[in-house]
Amino acid sequence: MKTSNRPTIILAIESSCDETACAVVQKAQDQALATVLSSVTATSLAKHKATRGIVPEVAAREQLKFILPVIQEALQQFGGDKTDIEAIAVTVGPGLVGSLLVGIETARALAMAWDKPMIPVNHIEAHPYANFVDFGEIPYGLAPDSHQALRDDVITNFPLLSWVISGGHTELYLMNSHEEITHLGGTVDDAAGECFDKCARVLGFDYPGGPFIEKLAEQFDVAKHPLIKLPRPLIHEKNFLLSFSGLKTAFLRAFREHEHTIDSVDLKISLAYELQEAITDIILKKTQLALEMYPDVKSIIISGGVAANKGLRKKLETAKLDKSENQPALNATHSVAGEPTIHFPPLSLCTDNAAMIGTYAAFHTEKVTSWKNVTLRL
Ligand code: KG4
Ligand code: ZN
Repeated sequence: MKTSNRPTIILAIESSCDETACAVVQKAQDQALATVLSSVTATSLAKHKATRGIVPEVAAREQLKFILPVIQEALQQFGGDKTDIEAIAVTVGPGLVGSLLVGIETARALAMAWDKPMIPVNHIEAHPYANFVDFGEIPYGLAPDSHQALRDDVITNFPLLSWVISGGHTELYLMNSHEEITHLGGTVDDAAGECFDKCARVLGFDYPGGPFIEKLAEQFDVAKHPLIKLPRPLIHEKNFLLSFSGLKTAFLRAFREHEHTIDSVDLKISLAYELQEAITDIILKKTQLALEMYPDVKSIIISGGVAANKGLRKKLETAKLDKSENQPALNATHSVAGEPTIHFPPLSLCTDNAAMIGTYAAFHTEKVTSWKNVTLRL
């Protein structure tokens, strides 16, 4: 790939689960953030409502249906043509095999036909890159939402703490640079998003359950609703192991215990509130522990579907950490002398999308290879 500072334009494809996505992303070598030139996402979620969960075979068939129209639309929005595109990035894993193969083989076919190099991308490593997009310059369909735009300072604010909190993963990383990333820990059983989903199911809601829990939790009023305590597993352990399976079981037990004694709407609101509190308390506590152990951390970035959760955003953005313990305070806006800033992607880039795949690739152009070498990597 070229070495001049002309922006590199990458076409990216994501198809690891029930979203089919294509984006065109651009970044010059010295730029701290990438620009999304187009981003299109189709979802087969509605198809999975009837089965109350994703059936891999159905998801793969839907990927086949969407993939070419989504690529076509992303190219139309971009406005350029294949000669402008320098590389093709694609998610190679982890995810559902059938779904992944649709994206991988389509991307390889394009790379072969257009004679372009490819950049294979790991889905989990890519999620945090939704935070390395210049929201201010997003031209298509991704209007910046209520959250603060990330400016160039996020890149200079290494070391970063990076949380990936999704339906399949809840992992914490320390990033000293884009190349030097250490896995600090993560869940030993269910992911946080999975816990939201399974508990929402107990309350009668479809996948994905997180947004339902969030809406119910917003209605909680301590003067009106009973407070039903749930455990916060492993919260006080001085390590980065998390566990959400016991919380899910406790939620089900509490539901059964109270379902005939508390009004059904009130019970749902109380349990949803406490579940969201328990999950977000655990994330906050482990963030505080990481800041204690790594006092040089300058920024915290959150990504994955659960990063959309308003309760989590509010809790982390407003947390005042005990400075006496050498802990810097979290600051939602800009760093004030040594305090870490905290960043969330726009809501549209929390759940699966191709902009994060393209942005990851734009920061890792050294990973280019021939289409001949790109295969599924679970
Ligand atoms: O990143 P994602 O789209 O897919 C995976 O890679 O897993 O994350 C989906 C997860 C689901 O578990 C969903 O319930 C959760 O993200 N989620 C939320 C919210 N929006 C999506 N959880 C809590 N609050 C939300 N607002
Ligand atoms: Zn994901």
